Amino acid sequence: MFITLEGPDGGGKSSQIGPLVEFLTRAGYRVLATREPGGTPIGDRVRQVLMDLGSAEMHPRTEILLFQSSRAQLVEQVIRPYLAAGGVVVCDRYADSTLAYQGYGQGESLATLRSLLDFATGGLKPDLTFLLDLDPEVGIARRKAGGGEWNRLDANTLAYHRRVRAGYQELARLEPARWVLVDASQPPDAVQSQLRRIALDRMRAQEPSRQA
Ligand code: TYD
Repeated sequence: MFITLEGPDGGGKSSQIGPLVEFLTRAGYRVLATREPGGTPIGDRVRQVLMDLGSAEMHPRTEILLFQSSRAQLVEQVIRPYLAAGGVVVCDRYADSTLAYQGYGQGESLATLRSLLDFATGGLKPDLTFLLDLDPEVGIARRKAGGGEWNRLDANTLAYHRRVRAGYQELARLEPARWVLVDASQPPDAVQSQLRRIALDRMRAQEPSRQA
């Protein structure tokens, strides 16, 4: 089972993932948490280039390809082997981030991006994707208040973050069997219980077919 967490910045994905993984591990599954961009030594170096406030001259196409190079490495070095060994992978952002940010946010052709994504991932798609949906104004305020790292990609306009959110909502509408929309303005505990319940239900539902 391959689970991804998606959503606008400040939706709390990164703080939800640890407790979710702990819960699923206690429930008896072998679970690995990872994140994008990064998640491998090569990917972490690519992440540094992407996030660096000094990379202001980076061309949008360069940025898109760097995200894909980090992703290709993560898929082949970490995700596929772990899934093949019967484990569960929970990833903080994946291919849908490229569609939401570079596609809906920056206006790059979705068809072009989809073919790049297919190449980068070798066609690997998540089984379940949570959209931690949040008003971008709230998300940005949260990130600033939290004093977390403030990077080059955060420094975009509010209008851009609104397009990203709307893009995510459309992606979820297009593939309702994979996506689950979670209201990330709820208290973190409420978000966490929803993630746990849905993930567990989906995993249990998959088990009989696996054994068959
Ligand atoms: P990160 O610090 O991981 O943010 P978050 O905690 O919100 O996940 O930074 C990742 C940033 O990169 C985030 O603004 C989303 C952006 N991003 C893209 O634009 N395209 C992508 O394909 C990915 C994976 C991330």
